[in-house]
Amino acid sequence: MNEELVKSALSKVIYPGFQKDIVSFGFVDKIEIDGSDVSVEITITSSADEVKSELQRGIDLEVSKIGAEKVSVKVNRPAVPRETSSRGKNIAPNVKNFVMVSSGKGGVGKSTTSVNLAIALAMQGKKVGLLDADIYGPNIPRMLGVENAKPEIIGNKVKPMEAYGIEMISMGSLMASGEALIWRGSLIIKAIQQFLTDILWSELDVLVIDMPPGTGDAQLTLAQSVPVTAGVTVTTPQTVALDDAERSLNMFKKLNIPIAGVVENMSGFICPETGKEYDIFGKGTSEDLSKKYDTFILSEIPIEPKVRVGGDSGKPITYTNPDSEIAKRYLKAGERLWEEIEDINSRGVVSNEEIQPTTGASACSTGNSSHSSGGSCGC
Ligand SMILES: Nc1ncnc2c1ncn2[C@@H]1O[C@H](COP(=O)(O)OP(=O)(O)OP(=O)(O)O)[C@@H](O)[C@H]1O
Ligand SMILES: [Mg+2]
Repeated sequence: MNEELVKSALSKVIYPGFQKDIVSFGFVDKIEIDGSDVSVEITITSSADEVKSELQRGIDLEVSKIGAEKVSVKVNRPAVPRETSSRGKNIAPNVKNFVMVSSGKGGVGKSTTSVNLAIALAMQGKKVGLLDADIYGPNIPRMLGVENAKPEIIGNKVKPMEAYGIEMISMGSLMASGEALIWRGSLIIKAIQQFLTDILWSELDVLVIDMPPGTGDAQLTLAQSVPVTAGVTVTTPQTVALDDAERSLNMFKKLNIPIAGVVENMSGFICPETGKEYDIFGKGTSEDLSKKYDTFILSEIPIEPKVRVGGDSGKPITYTNPDSEIAKRYLKAGERLWEEIEDINSRGVVSNEEIQPTTGASACSTGNSSHSSGGSCGC
């Protein structure tokens, strides 16, 4: 029995809700070995009891497998000073509020939702930025019609681009188009941090952040770097999509990110000729899941070809056709989201100061392919 052996056993213990183990996350503080007795001390970000007991069970199991007779596990957890907390670490101090738009699954409409919500917030008079943190498959430049434009570089900083009244930056605007993007964990962490520190954001009321699908380095890095005000989960109504949406809601919970709501996208289809509604993927099915996480549906957005056309042509429906039913729903969702942000702020913000730093590169590279399959990019 030695420390290396125990460490390798601990590296089989996956942090609940993520695809990464507790050693790679840097959560293991201390390993002590006394004959065949092993004590392990970890610090985790979550205040949820089920996370603590799941980790204790996992550690006990894996360390027993290498021959330990007695395994003691001490789990340190940050207090969750929701009512009293300062805002915690913020490497983008120009930004007052951060909204993380996530989903467990790819292709459910995160980017479409991020664009239209950002525009809806701007149409309420807020100063809004949109950060395309999907570095594997950055789609936002196309959706805003600026796919051929390049941002201005000032010294060693980058000025965000502007479109439809919002500021925006995307890896897609910083790299040559069509360039293959292969990201290792450490590069993802660096890229996300640079999006926050090296972009000349104005004084923003809110930065909407379009995340890659799943739960991984990008999500954790963001939560460590800025006090995320609110999380929005996007899902489609099928049961299989809801399973993935639950992973996203669970991640918010584990990262102490207050949940602002769920957007049920591709929720029914209204036939333009007859006005009859067809539940192609289902409709209203995310209600129970929302209740389980003590949140609500921010909006149900039906399948509407004009939404896709708006995205493909860089003319977002909320801006270009604000009187349409869909745009009205996005505008309403934007109002609700802002109310939630104010409510969350009035209650005090969860501090992110206790979230442990990631420990550099994870072992895998991720390209576009894993992304479109809807799997997690976390390693
Ligand atoms: N309500 C809708 N009605 C019709 N088409 C939609 C709707 N929402 C999204 N789409 C279309 O579905 C496709 C996927 O949407 P989008 O790119 O926003 O998903 P995503 O979750 O960001 O995907 P990824 O995980 O690949 O980043 C796009 O072509 C988009 O225009
Ligand atoms: Mg996307």
